Amino acid sequence: MNAKLSRVMVVWAAPFVLGGLAAAVGSHYLPESIGEQARRQAELVPPVRFVALNVTLPVSRTIFPPGAGAAIASANCVMCHSAGMVLRQPAMTVDEWSTEINKMRSAFGAPIPAEQVDELARYLGVINGRKSGPEPSAVDNQAS
Ligand code: HEC
Repeated sequence: MNAKLSRVMVVWAAPFVLGGLAAAVGSHYLPESIGEQARRQAELVPPVRFVALNVTLPVSRTIFPPGAGAAIASANCVMCHSAGMVLRQPAMTVDEWSTEINKMRSAFGAPIPAEQVDELARYLGVINGRKSGPEPSAVDNQAS
């Protein structure tokens, strides 16, 4: 074989050889396929069995204390969490309560009409309120 021909063969063969090498090394780093994972887990994990359990959750007896706005709270705030959950939060200013209520509306879809937000915020500010001061706000302001 003349020298020129063997040089041409080396030049053409080199990408294939290098490519093959890269594929062989690279396949070692490929993520495990889903099928492979399922097979491996089936060997490790015994079959899962489901059983029915009866769990009696505690009933909340906490209600919103009487006052202007209590009815709004009872109608709009306890379908997702208890009144106690609202009452146990850190005391907030009326503005902060307003932000909190609007967060419940925009982030979670609480069905309270916009025109009742102020009255409810004032009520919550009375039953679990604080005066505004230099300390940081208790709400994370997710409404905006
Ligand atoms: C549609 C469901 C839903 C309704 C209705 C709802 N909330 Fe919430 N509320 C949530 C969820 C979910 C969380 C927990 C949010 C979290 O962990 O960040 C929460 C948390 C809170 C918190 C704790 C602080 C916080 O931001 O996590 C307060 C206070 C609160 N709600 C007040 C109210 C008031 C007042 C109302 C009535 C206007 C109300 N919520 C109505 C879903 C709701």
